[in-house]
Amino acid sequence: MKLKLMLTALTLSTAFIHHVSYAAYPQFTWGPEFVSNEVEMDHEHQALFFTLSSLCDAFEKKNLEDTKRIFHGVVNWAVTHFASEEAHMQEIGYAHLEVHKKAHQDLVEKIQEVTPSVEAGTADGEGLMNFLHDWLYHHIPNADIPAYGKS
Ligand SMILES: [Fe+2]
Ligand SMILES: [Fe+2]
Repeated sequence: MKLKLMLTALTLSTAFIHHVSYAAYPQFTWGPEFVSNEVEMDHEHQALFFTLSSLCDAFEKKNLEDTKRIFHGVVNWAVTHFASEEAHMQEIGYAHLEVHKKAHQDLVEKIQEVTPSVEAGTADGEGLMNFLHDWLYHHIPNADIPAYGKS
C-alpha cells in the first residue's frame, strides 16, 4: 500500500515536471469524500475548491490578468489553510505532524517553481490544474481527514 502511494506520488510529480498534456481542465467538485468531523477545515477546503475552479476558468479563457490574480489567491489560501490545519493538528497532538507539514511544504515549493511561468503567461494551465486536482483529491481524504480523527 505504502509503495503504491509512493508510486502514485512519483507518477504525479513526473507528469507535472514533464508537462504531460492533459485532455481537459479538471472539475473541482465537492463531495462527501471530503467531509470531515472538523467543520472549519471543511470550509477552508471548500474555499480552496472554489478558488481552484475559478483558476481553471481563467486559464481556459486565457485571461492572463485574472489568471495571475486568482493564482495568487490560491497561493494565499493554500498557505493560510496549511498554517491553520497544522495549528489544529498540533492542538490535537497529531503524531505525524512533521510528515504532514513536509507534504504541505513540498506543494508550496512546486507552486513557487511554477509561479514565474504563470506570471509570464506561459504556464501549462492544464498540467498545473490537473496536478493540483490530483494532489488535493488524494491529500484531503488520505492525509487530512485521517489525521483530524487521530491523536
Ligand atoms: Fe493537509
Ligand atoms: Fe487540508
